[in-house]
Amino acid sequence: MSRPVRAPDLSRLKREGQRVVAVTAYDYASGVMVDRAGVDVVLVGDSLATVILGHTTTLPATMDVMVHHTRAVARGVQRALVVGDLPFLSCITVEDAVRNGGRLMQEAGAGAVKLEGASALTLAAVRALVAQGIPVLGHIGFTPQSVHVFGGHKVQGKDEEAARRMLEEARALQQAGVSAVVLELVPEALAAHISLNLEIPTIGIGAGPGCDGQIQVFHDLVGLFTDHVPRHAARYARVGDVIGEAVGRYAADVRAGRFLAREEVLS
Ligand code: KIV
Repeated sequence: MSRPVRAPDLSRLKREGQRVVAVTAYDYASGVMVDRAGVDVVLVGDSLATVILGHTTTLPATMDVMVHHTRAVARGVQRALVVGDLPFLSCITVEDAVRNGGRLMQEAGAGAVKLEGASALTLAAVRALVAQGIPVLGHIGFTPQSVHVFGGHKVQGKDEEAARRMLEEARALQQAGVSAVVLELVPEALAAHISLNLEIPTIGIGAGPGCDGQIQVFHDLVGLFTDHVPRHAARYARVGDVIGEAVGRYAADVRAGRFLAREEVLS
């Protein structure tokens, strides 16, 4: 195993012309699997509120839930950088941000935290977190915690003024000390432009191939759900179908009295 990934390695990867590979995970098993597959960053995203807990938005994710899941993932990850997401309303003040970021590092074993937006408060929170020894990833473009402000899952930065603002936000986050910035639902050309204008890497989701890295939600990537897949998701397998088929065969075997009688079940 190569040495563990630390937050400063993300900029090094960009300098060396290597793309950052990031994926979400929410428990020990998925942490082990994605780490063994060799990703650089494992994000314990507040998307767990939707894909793990079945809510329609990320808003119900609480700090206690994020600590619980981040701790489980961290137990399974040996090499990748584990990033804990700071959930909705966890950074209302700079003090909250530091206390909650500190929990993700100290109680849960994260190697960095991520927070959404680039308001004056967020930038102050980033500076305070970094000053306390907590590496931070930013997240701009469509920020899911503000879904109600945006009025839905909408691409951001479509007009000239919004595009200019987003570049400013990315630069301000870099200046405040983030180690990388997630760009979500951003037009391809704008994401590429922002990437070219930053020293830190951009990590895109629904932002095109011009980003310095990519992130996907684990459940989308492996195809755990087959009924609803976001447009920007890339499905590399249909694991949900494999599980459904396996459990279906098990059910049929139990009902027919064949369970534990077949060689392939025992092997
Ligand atoms: O919560 C999450 O999974 C995220 C990624 C989609 C970037 O923030």
